[in-house]
Amino acid sequence: MNISDTVKTLNPRPAYQGEGQEEAERQRGLIEKLKSYPKKPKTFYLSTMGCQMNARDSEKLKGILHEIGAEETTEDQADLVIYNTCCVRENAEQKVYGRLGYLKGIKRKHPGMKIVLCGCMMQEDAVIEKLKKSYPEVDLIFGTYNIYKFPELLLTMLETNDTIIDIWKEQQDIVEDLPSIRKYPFKASVNIMYGCDNFCTYCIVPYVRGRERSRKPENIIAEIESLVQSGVREIQLLGQNVNSYGKGLEEPITFAQLLERVCRIEGLERVRFMTSHPKDLSDELIAAMGKLDKVCPHFHLPLQSGSDRLLKAMNRHYDQARYLDIVRKLRETVPEISITTDIIVGFPGETREDFLETLKVVRESRFDGGFTFIYSPRIGTPAARMEQVDPEESKVNFAELLKVMEEIAEENNARWLGRTVEVLAEEKSKNDSGMITGRTPQNILVHFTAGDRWIGQMAQVRIKETTPFYLIGELA
Ligand code: 5AD
Ligand code: SF4
Repeated sequence: MNISDTVKTLNPRPAYQGEGQEEAERQRGLIEKLKSYPKKPKTFYLSTMGCQMNARDSEKLKGILHEIGAEETTEDQADLVIYNTCCVRENAEQKVYGRLGYLKGIKRKHPGMKIVLCGCMMQEDAVIEKLKKSYPEVDLIFGTYNIYKFPELLLTMLETNDTIIDIWKEQQDIVEDLPSIRKYPFKASVNIMYGCDNFCTYCIVPYVRGRERSRKPENIIAEIESLVQSGVREIQLLGQNVNSYGKGLEEPITFAQLLERVCRIEGLERVRFMTSHPKDLSDELIAAMGKLDKVCPHFHLPLQSGSDRLLKAMNRHYDQARYLDIVRKLRETVPEISITTDIIVGFPGETREDFLETLKVVRESRFDGGFTFIYSPRIGTPAARMEQVDPEESKVNFAELLKVMEEIAEENNARWLGRTVEVLAEEKSKNDSGMITGRTPQNILVHFTAGDRWIGQMAQVRIKETTPFYLIGELA
């Protein structure tokens, strides 16, 4: 049988184009139908790749599955296996194809199993073509814009043996207000905006997450208020570029003003946000960070490169001097702030001199931590068409960068030795069940000796040992 005979591609234009609330209502009706649907999945396994945005989307998928009565289990036992995919770097994509090979074997032994793929990778045409051609074991494919349609897609999938593919090319409405299962009852992430308009030349995100769209402040505040009422103490505001929050909204508002409104919510103790683009970072935001006690003294400020030439080629719209100026202002305004970053090594055209400029900024900024990546060409982005560099040279530079960053983080963390810090306790430590893991306001990981009853509480912890990546302590 020809594979394409068994593939049903849904109309990419959604039938429904009204207000988000009504659509949420419609999907909730389908959840009710699924609850008593005879062929509904009883168990599921959900694997989430990539960034915080995907993690948040997975909380929504889990919420819906939980609502219909499905329970989480292991990958080889599950009726429904879901991969929420990432495509920022190529190795994330390779991992998905590798897992599909493995699942094919399992599905043979467990024919009722359904395989679902969603997330950023599914927004790439080439990926869909490849899946259609070579992976008939996949039952449902959808993308980033229609995740709220999951109840409807699930039902459609259960009613047919075809592979259902529903990919939209752009966002229609922002539909929130569907069930979601948050990872922790005491800390939560809240989307304040979706998409990205920056088109950094290496990055695929603007192509798979679409144009920037801000949520209305009153909807964000209402969501946080209800989270706080249910016991949440720490909120992380999420967006690809939170500094441009508010553009395009009817009522003009800046990100700093949103932060102020969020901080007025009674009972909320800590506020964080991710991610900031240096180009849009305003003095107003730096001043707000200094003034608002609930905003944690941590700033994630992706550098990407320290070379002015490469920053231009990356379309980043700032230079080394501007970046260092922001770091200086942040340190002047917010005492004890920790600053973390993202850096790419091996961008097209990168010379040793460019790399040394990056090292210089790293040394001057004294980052507390960061994510470092070797450049991965993404089809369709401008940088993929530029002349690539020798991967061996990038590997050498990458190792050197890691070493320098680790040394600095170690020195920075050593300053906490003997001091007492406030830790929001999150979970049992993975390596030692007598210890609890949590984070300081600076977002530094702390393992401390304590019982489970501390989970979800603010603990005062005296630090007795430090490493480049975490601190170790005991209750003060
Ligand atoms: N190759 C390597 N790293 C990338 N990033 C984004 N696109 C690429 C790519 N093509 C990194 C950037 C970004 C982080 C989320 O991922 O550093 O800040
Ligand atoms: Fe990608 Fe740049 Fe947008 Fe970040 S700001 S998501 S790196 S395009």
